[in-house]
Amino acid sequence: MERLIVSGGKPLEGTVRVGGSKNAALPLIFATILTENACTIENLPAIRDVEISLEILAAMGASIRYLDRTTVEIGTRALKPILPPPHLVAALRASTYLMGAMLGRFGRAYVQDFGGCNFSPRPIDMHLYAAEALGAWRQGDTLFASQGLTGAILAFDKVSVGATVNALLMASAAKGTTVIENAACEPHVENLIVFLRSMGAQILRIGSSLVVEGRPLHGGRCSVVGDMIEGGTYLLAGLATGGCVTVTGCEGEHLSAFLSLLSGGGARVLIRDGRIALSGALSSPILIKTAPYPAFPTDLQPQTAAVLAAHMGGIVTEGVFPHRFGYLSALETMGLSFVKNGSTAYIFPSRLIPATVTATDLRGGAALLLAALSAKGESVIEGASYILRGYEDIVEKFSTLGADIKLIKENEKGS
Ligand code: UD1
Repeated sequence: MERLIVSGGKPLEGTVRVGGSKNAALPLIFATILTENACTIENLPAIRDVEISLEILAAMGASIRYLDRTTVEIGTRALKPILPPPHLVAALRASTYLMGAMLGRFGRAYVQDFGGCNFSPRPIDMHLYAAEALGAWRQGDTLFASQGLTGAILAFDKVSVGATVNALLMASAAKGTTVIENAACEPHVENLIVFLRSMGAQILRIGSSLVVEGRPLHGGRCSVVGDMIEGGTYLLAGLATGGCVTVTGCEGEHLSAFLSLLSGGGARVLIRDGRIALSGALSSPILIKTAPYPAFPTDLQPQTAAVLAAHMGGIVTEGVFPHRFGYLSALETMGLSFVKNGSTAYIFPSRLIPATVTATDLRGGAALLLAALSAKGESVIEGASYILRGYEDIVEKFSTLGADIKLIKENEKGS
């Protein structure tokens, strides 16, 4: 098991360039299945989830060629509609996008044991509703649309990133017009729309609806949007340690809800010339309620809670995944004092202490890392592979900011 060893208590200072967004890159990779022509994706992050997605495509017959460190050309002409390798599919949540992409290209897809972080139940009923509304039917664990998909009105009863992505993939390849009501509008969904348009799809956003005209799709090109969650995590690391971190490579606008809450609590936010800087301290407790974009992102909830503990505390209500609080018990080992009531956690100002803790999901793991960076002394975070799934070059980037951090790989002994 990989682990991070952190000697915390040092203020982090400096600038970090964030990579492409994990949650944007993965839909783009799976969208390449929709066409027989080669596609090019730029600004891909060097993270495990990207590697696994490319391994899935390669195992199904695609050709993968890196043109430089962050640009990949994917050719899916020889890709076959076979069962995607279950052990790889079970490793990441975004493998659900295989359903939409394969139905769109081949009229056949598989319902598998889709993986990802298990911080909460993660149903796929909305994905299946979209597939069936567009004309697919299910027999056992196989979805069929032998005559191709046909446009329809999709009335989602809640906002889901994953279901919106799958609906966009299917609608772009379907005959006729699809309306996706109550569609997600996260920057990574917009990134997919740009890519699908480059492949020939006609997509219009009207308020919270998307109108999609399916078209024969050709090769496309797109650059992955900067990772707002990675950016937010580094900014929080500065705040957690009493330092000042500046990030480049992601948009301040994508972090508006997050940054305005922190500045409302007393932190100093500066956005200028493509740089975002966060410094100072929180002088009052903060109230957070996560919800779909443009509200406070659920993917920054655990990391922010860890930082609230090191400052004036706050109240955190999880409006997307009500059970996303599994990381709190590990933080308790590090001195966190909290009370939980349903989907709300009351975080009290706490003196964080170093400890050995285990990450059990990506963002919860990042929260433990921030706590370890702020607690004076040596902490060990087991289960670091969860964190590496979504943060590229994390040891190098934190080291640049002055952190004392090292990664111990499997079979390697810590010193
Ligand atoms: C994606 C992100 C994840 C992020 C989440 C919310 C990826 C790979 N993962 O996850 O990092 O935390 O968006 O921003 O991009 N729901 C249903 N039925 C469904 C689908 C979803 O009830 O068929 C519910 C979920 O349980 C949840 C809510 O809808 O309560 C939103 O989930 P969703 O936006 O779909 O999250 P993911 O796409 O899985």
